[in-house]
Amino acid sequence: MLRTFGAVWTALSSFLSLAPLPKFSPAHELAHDTFKLQQSWGVYSPYHAAEHYIPPPADCEISQVNILHRHGARLPTEHQTKDIHSGVKKLQSAEYYTDSRLDFLETFEYSLGENLLVPLGAIQSAESGKAAFQRYSSLITEDDIPFVRASGMSRVVETAKNWSAGFAAASDYTYTPKLSVIFDEAGLDPLQDDLCPNASGSHKEMSQWLAVYGPPITARLNSWAPGANLVDEDIHGLMMLCAFHTVASVPYEYNEGSPLPFSPFCSLFKPSEFEAFEYSSDLDKYYSTGYGARVGRVQGVGYVNELLARLTGSPVSDHTSTNSTLDSDPATFPLNHTIYADFTHDSIVVAAFATIGLFPTHKLSTTHPKAQRDWLASEIIPFSGRMVVEKLTCDRHDASDSYIRILVNEVLQPLAFCGAKKHGPWKGLCQFDAFLDSQEYARNDGNGDWEECF
Ligand SMILES: *[C@@H]1O[C@H](CO)[C@@H](O)[C@H](O)[C@H]1NC(C)=O
Ligand SMILES: *[C@@H]1O[C@H](CO)[C@@H](O)[C@H](O)[C@H]1NC(C)=O
Ligand SMILES: *[C@@H]1O[C@H](CO)[C@@H](O)[C@H](O)[C@H]1NC(C)=O
Ligand SMILES: *[C@@H]1O[C@H](CO)[C@@H](O)[C@H](O)[C@H]1NC(C)=O
Repeated sequence: MLRTFGAVWTALSSFLSLAPLPKFSPAHELAHDTFKLQQSWGVYSPYHAAEHYIPPPADCEISQVNILHRHGARLPTEHQTKDIHSGVKKLQSAEYYTDSRLDFLETFEYSLGENLLVPLGAIQSAESGKAAFQRYSSLITEDDIPFVRASGMSRVVETAKNWSAGFAAASDYTYTPKLSVIFDEAGLDPLQDDLCPNASGSHKEMSQWLAVYGPPITARLNSWAPGANLVDEDIHGLMMLCAFHTVASVPYEYNEGSPLPFSPFCSLFKPSEFEAFEYSSDLDKYYSTGYGARVGRVQGVGYVNELLARLTGSPVSDHTSTNSTLDSDPATFPLNHTIYADFTHDSIVVAAFATIGLFPTHKLSTTHPKAQRDWLASEIIPFSGRMVVEKLTCDRHDASDSYIRILVNEVLQPLAFCGAKKHGPWKGLCQFDAFLDSQEYARNDGNGDWEECF
């Protein structure tokens, strides 16, 4: 849930300029459960945690924390902007509207811009940094503050900086993490999402699903805007616009717990249609860098091998996307910190899930979604989504032993693949060595998959 941004806002407001407050028409039909709706925008959902964080068992202490963090809410990419424009232009070309929900288009001017982090993305990233400080403050000393890296794209870098600012503000500026590594986008970078040119993407699967859910929506909007001649592809763009326009319009002074002010584009669609839209995100991630991609999850191997290096305190062993110059230098890849935070894109976080073995999922149908599924993009990789790997030292049976547990957006993962218990206080904990053994795919550099990228 969206929490109090007060303290962080006070700290941030000094260096953030205010965005203008948009005027919205009420999203009448949709008002019934706005939070739920915002959480059905797939990878375009604002951050929300499905559960509350549960501390480790009483006999355990956290000895290391690794955070892999998606950038916060952003503007559409160039490619998405084209799709969005197409639908907006067609709707605006209609001579008249038969439904008042389209009336706002008579004066609407599209002006979102591209790619950048938006205020909500900055706020939610700062909030994440604040939460990290509060949760792990006992692990922090003046000599040992989080080591922070980011992939080179602006929105990722800004997310890392806002996270660090939120962390610093929460500590009353006693601890101010620096962004120590910004990867050059032209080089090897385990946090970059375009290093595998032969990856096939998910266009085919998303189109198959669009052909199922799109036509009734296309027909309805065409009947509301005679002459617009929308096609199914435009529907995907317009539904994305509901999410992008909403997150882009949230002002910096956005307030705790209140639902976001909806873009009027949202009122063009029904909740059940957003569920279908959410599934297109599930398919997108599953067939891009998830389990459904021929060369997908291998893009997470570089990060996971770095994670294993930190967990074991030994040099990185990897022949995929990592930069060996950076990783062999203690200034750019130290092994003596307690908290590490890495900022990246959704595709890489998803690839890391699939490399590690999280959310194991059989083939997703492109025509018949299962109502109950673990692979739910809105929950596993919303804007500012994060995976946290905690290393624990636990006293058990008169001996001290190391364990691993993993949280994704606060949800404790079952880790069945390394023998974690399903119930009780030790739920979700794997013995350290069992976890390392389970990471064979990463340790084998992706079993030859990386070579297929080129
Ligand atoms: C890690 O090692 C470096 C180089 O020896 C040292 O400068 C730094 O203070 C150490 N950091 C921590 C957190 O121990
Ligand atoms: C936070 O993000 C915003 C939006 O991208 C940016 O303007 C601001 O400089 C960032 N804050 C810091 C501390 O870098
Ligand atoms: C590794 O990183 C360094 C420092 O950014 C850069 O100069 C070098 O080109 C990178 N190497 C590769 C193979 O990308
Ligand atoms: C990768 O793509 C290139 C260019 O299309 C092609 O020549 C090459 O065979 C592909 N490699 C693999 C392993 O599929």
